[in-house]
Amino acid sequence: MKEAINSIHLAYDDHGAGLPVIFLHAFPLNRGMWAQELNSLLDDGNYRAIALDWRGFGESETTAGRVSMDQLAQDLAGLMDHLGIQEAVLCGLSMGGYVAFAFYRAFPERVRGLILADTQPYADTEEAKQRRETVAKLAESDGTTAIANLQIPNLLSETGRNQKPEVVRAVEHMINTATPQGIAAAARGMALRADSTDLLEHIACPVLVIAGEQDAITPPGMAQEYTSKIPGGQFIMIQQAGHLSNLEQPDSFIYILRSFLATLR
Ligand code: MLT
Repeated sequence: MKEAINSIHLAYDDHGAGLPVIFLHAFPLNRGMWAQELNSLLDDGNYRAIALDWRGFGESETTAGRVSMDQLAQDLAGLMDHLGIQEAVLCGLSMGGYVAFAFYRAFPERVRGLILADTQPYADTEEAKQRRETVAKLAESDGTTAIANLQIPNLLSETGRNQKPEVVRAVEHMINTATPQGIAAAARGMALRADSTDLLEHIACPVLVIAGEQDAITPPGMAQEYTSKIPGGQFIMIQQAGHLSNLEQPDSFIYILRSFLATLR
């Protein structure tokens, strides 16, 4: 489905009825990364499962320039308004988690629970900001295949890359459906995101933090450390998974997700 939200066409899936759970995708993928979670929640029968493509990714329209995490949080709020959803559980992986933090800061009363997977509350260092600019320029000059080649070694564990060629192909395909301008705009937006560490102690909803054992971008030690600052926050590490933990170990991820969601109904 596609809808004009904040003057831009955003694509999304919306299936089932019950507690709304909204899935927020990583950079530079799209909502396709949540297909197995959506199917599983649909089978369960207790959830309204939604996943959207951020601007510039998947089937959503692109806006050039820079797209901030706050803008993406506003897009999410606009979609929730359109769907008549006041409050939802948010499940964000990596960049999806950055948006979840931005959303919580703006609309805490609209968050029933948070699942923060392979993400972090910290702002970029100066060095990381420079790397973002390199990624943005590479996308603009060489296109999405160059971005896939650059990113995939960081997104999937070595074992995953060697033993799960179908996952590698799926990730490549998702990256290739983004637009170079969308990738550049999101990279520049991530570079400017606010630090959310001040928010952690004020998060009042149930929170589950997940990290892949071999996540090179947001290592489990870092995730465990920031979880300890969230009142009642729970931390779970998924064995034999890299950054895209739900794609490398879908069964474990879905089991953990459903166990957490069952406590919120
Ligand atoms: C992501 O998976 O969304 C990105 O790796 C996030 C990042 O580069 O910080």
